[in-house]
Amino acid sequence: MRDSRETFINHAFVTGFPIKHSRSPLIHGYWLKSFGLLGSYRAHAVSPDAFADFMQALRDGTSGFCGGNVTIPHKERAFALCDRPDELSRELGAANTLWIKDGLVHATNTDGYGFTTNLDERAAGWDNCDRAIILGAGGASRAVIQAVRDRGVKTIHVVNRTLEKAQDLADRFGPSVEAQAMGDIPDLIKGAGLFINTTSLGMDGTPVPQIDFTTMAKGAVVTDIVYVPLKTPLLAQAEDQGLRIVDGLGMLLHQAAPGFEKWFGRRPMVDAALRQIIIEDMEQHL
Ligand code: ATR
Repeated sequence: MRDSRETFINHAFVTGFPIKHSRSPLIHGYWLKSFGLLGSYRAHAVSPDAFADFMQALRDGTSGFCGGNVTIPHKERAFALCDRPDELSRELGAANTLWIKDGLVHATNTDGYGFTTNLDERAAGWDNCDRAIILGAGGASRAVIQAVRDRGVKTIHVVNRTLEKAQDLADRFGPSVEAQAMGDIPDLIKGAGLFINTTSLGMDGTPVPQIDFTTMAKGAVVTDIVYVPLKTPLLAQAEDQGLRIVDGLGMLLHQAAPGFEKWFGRRPMVDAALRQIIIEDMEQHL
């Protein structure tokens, strides 16, 4: 889109349903301001019924957007309705980042990038381990399984309350991924180098299983992709037991960076000031 001075001003969105509580506009707003760019990034609610029309308007330019983020419940449909999904999103069957190029909707999934970049920053050497345990087999765990596998961790145990769902993911992501039941955790955790929670366990007042993290390998890392609260019940347990812990906020911040670069042409930094802005917003909206 051009303004009267023939300057390109790009407009991007985050869409979901509901979308009101998304923190993505704060993140991208911070970066737009830091670079002094005139573009915009805003939350745009689209109901499931209207999503196909939204994708068409994006493609034909009538939406006024050059691209954007997609979140729950639209990630799978965004993948299905886009024109050029990349390899990562094809394997996941879900996309979170869209951009228009030559009249076509391109798509990728940056959740795995956000996850690994957060760990690289806060627990360097985390991937120097043979075995990882991923708790949960919902939508959010897929990108994490893919990312950990692609970083070369040899064995990934996907542990889930509903074993069949873990098995589906093991089938999808190949021989390095094994499905296990919750009761297997005490045995599996011995000597493992990485433990990742992708479930909302403990967040709804239900009791959290006590896990003995002390049997993990020396230097092991425990992380969570849930970031509200910043220190989840499982992270608190692991910290009390002396483990290295990494909260999930950095994943949210880093997954946003590739999209910003696509829409606005600059690669943004995830810095302490941005992290603080989101923490303060979380404190205000508990
Ligand atoms: P998301 O897309 O955010 O991952 P989801 O698809 O609803 O959300 O998945 C939630 C995950 O948390 C699932 O792995 C779920 O286990 P089930 O597949 O057995 O439902 C897990 N989960 C949620 N509450 C749980 C609890 N109280 N105990 C164990 N696992 C739980």
